[in-house]
Amino acid sequence: MRFSSILASTAITGAALAKDITVVAGKSGLTFEPAEIQAEEGDIVWFKFWPKNHSVAQSTFDKPCQPAPNGFWSGYVPQSEAKASDTTFAIEVTNASAPIWFYCTQQQHCQNGMVGVINAPANNEERTLETFKEGAAEEEENVEPTSEAGTGGQLGAAQQSGSPSGSPSGYPSGTPSGGAAPESTGAASPLQVNSLAISGVMGLLAYFAL
Ligand SMILES: *[C@@H]1O[C@H](CO)[C@@H](O)[C@H](O)[C@H]1NC(C)=O
Ligand SMILES: *[C@@H]1O[C@H](CO)[C@@H](O)[C@H](O)[C@H]1NC(C)=O
Repeated sequence: MRFSSILASTAITGAALAKDITVVAGKSGLTFEPAEIQAEEGDIVWFKFWPKNHSVAQSTFDKPCQPAPNGFWSGYVPQSEAKASDTTFAIEVTNASAPIWFYCTQQQHCQNGMVGVINAPANNEERTLETFKEGAAEEEENVEPTSEAGTGGQLGAAQQSGSPSGSPSGYPSGTPSGGAAPESTGAASPLQVNSLAISGVMGLLAYFAL
């Protein structure tokens, strides 16, 4: 009895620890900030896009400016005002042991260092953000995915700040059905969001914007 209630509270604590991580794209030049992210399983990484017209796509360490097979892809998120677009792109980290390398597909942004990594391999001097950037600088082409914008994540969901539990609301706690994502693509899996929840958030944002 006692043991199971300890287990239950541990499970609850674990769930509550899932956190929102914000990555800002293009706010200070051709950068993702932070470019190196540590995330736990269940964490949601939110990409927020500043002017003028950036994107984020998953790549691989070996081919920094080319789409990873079945990787995520935000599509382009143009923004003309000097602030982040209301369109965000969010991915859930489902395997904290799998590094997730990513880049901006616009023009030469990848080659110019607009790249990043979630959970870079620990104690691996060959596979760091810096060596990834060096690899990117040598790429001849910056290749955009052919998949649909929003693939592998949630496009357009506004981040809920100040959510009481600290949990990434709007996201299901479990992994989406359909089993594990292909190993080669690492840890991001498609997310499903209740569209009612989103329109609620949007409504709230619109309210505060007034
Ligand atoms: C954003 O960039 C993409 C790729 O270069 C381009 O196709 C699209 O027209 C751009 N959108 C705007 C609004 O500039
Ligand atoms: C998580 O990623 C690691 C490293 O890529 C891989 O070896 C492992 O099989 C993955 N685990 C799951 C459950 O997919």
